[in-house]
Amino acid sequence: MELTGKVALITGASRGIGESIAGRLATMGMQLVITGRDAERLEQVKEGLQMIGSQPHLIVADISDPATPGRLIGETIQTFGGIDVLVNNAGYAVSKPIEETNLEDWDYSIAVNARAPFFICKESIPHLRRSTCATIINISSVVGRLGYTQQGAYAASKHALMGFSKVLAREVQPLGIRVHTIAPGGVATEMVKTMRADLDVSKLIHPDEIADLVQFLLQHRGNGMIDNIDLRRFNGTPFA
Ligand SMILES: NC(=O)c1ccc[n+]([C@@H]2O[C@H](COP(=O)([O-])OP(=O)(O)OC[C@H]3O[C@@H](n4cnc5c(N)ncnc54)[C@H](OP(=O)(O)O)[C@@H]3O)[C@@H](O)[C@H]2O)c1
Repeated sequence: MELTGKVALITGASRGIGESIAGRLATMGMQLVITGRDAERLEQVKEGLQMIGSQPHLIVADISDPATPGRLIGETIQTFGGIDVLVNNAGYAVSKPIEETNLEDWDYSIAVNARAPFFICKESIPHLRRSTCATIINISSVVGRLGYTQQGAYAASKHALMGFSKVLAREVQPLGIRVHTIAPGGVATEMVKTMRADLDVSKLIHPDEIADLVQFLLQHRGNGMIDNIDLRRFNGTPFA
């Protein structure tokens, strides 16, 4: 699949996994829209991408704002005339036992991790259906399938993301849109410091390993279709 010049929107590109994915897609010659709340960090990411010949469009936006999904897709279409790839990567995690989880923790987790990607997907469908390589990749988590203590709101939001992704994949397959989920556990980013301070940092997955998977999913265009990729730490439990 020739991806040079194709347009990708990546949420949560100001750091961590999203920054790695942006770097990889830029190396592949794709045109990028990068977004997050932290304008300063996004500018730094943009400068890094410019050094490898990319001219990304930057949108500073909070995806917990219900108006943001429409704005992200609208600005992407306005800037590049279309969209080929959507990577819903932005995420928020709070580490608390359920007994201490408050309404704000719950609502914000659901808003960022489930509601926003749901509506960004919805807004993207009319445009993606016109692409020859239409792909949505939703970054889930091992807790989109399992339940870890202290991660009630986070796990619920990632289960919701997995749930609607399964429905979406069936609804848009007839339109030629491929939907994938990637469900990692223990990636070396700022988020893991909050959620799993107990883990040995030297054994965590590198964010570039998620970018490897995104690249593979985009380039793999055979008759086979990968719905979901679970990626665990090598020192974690196999087939857990
Ligand atoms: N690290 C792990 O071990 C791990 C494991 C499984 C799944 N994941 C998933 O991987 C994805 C990326 O996480 P990460 O590890 O790279 O975490 P991270 O370093 O904390 O990055 C999170 C990204 O999401 C953005 N974001 C958070 N809240 C936002 C909001 N309200 N509006 C817009 N953007 C927002 C942040 O940008 P701003 O701060 O600029 O807004 C940042 O770019 C998430 O979906 C996460 O759940 C991570």
